[in-house]
Amino acid sequence: MPKTFAFSVNGKPVSVSLDNEDTPLLDVLRNELGLMGTRFGCGLEQCGCCMVLIAGVPEKCCAKPVWSVAGKDIITVEGLGNAARPHPLQQAFIDEQAGQCGYCLSGILIAAKALLDSNPQPSRAQIAQALDGNICRCGSHNRIMRAVEKAAAVMRAGARL
Ligand code: FES
Ligand code: FES
Repeated sequence: MPKTFAFSVNGKPVSVSLDNEDTPLLDVLRNELGLMGTRFGCGLEQCGCCMVLIAGVPEKCCAKPVWSVAGKDIITVEGLGNAARPHPLQQAFIDEQAGQCGYCLSGILIAAKALLDSNPQPSRAQIAQALDGNICRCGSHNRIMRAVEKAAAVMRAGARL
């Protein structure tokens, strides 16, 4: 008999009924809720492309059972911004062309958002440390680091307005 799990995604309450309470959150986001921005890479909590914010903490969700997020607030890359109103991180990644295939970027944007939420002026070393759990197979690391630095500067300037 299906069980129902309620939580919030990008500020909206959702509830899903599933036969298997161990269904990974990633599968629920993509298959039940149609949020395709969060990606499946390794499925082994190794690559970071499935990262979302859970209660403000960046976590890989490819092996995280849905029961474990009941009642929690989840932010996916779709919750950061959109084409009309991009988050400063998204705009900086576009400006810096920070990526080639782009497959890793939703997870990297989530990890970077968590960093900038807690540290508005990170050093290069702190950015590298924050993104340590995110693999970019295209080797776009330098441009990604530049984009995070640029977004941080834009956000600091905005905060002063
Ligand atoms: S798909 Fe989740 S860490 Fe690789
Ligand atoms: S841009 Fe291709 S994996 Fe990062």
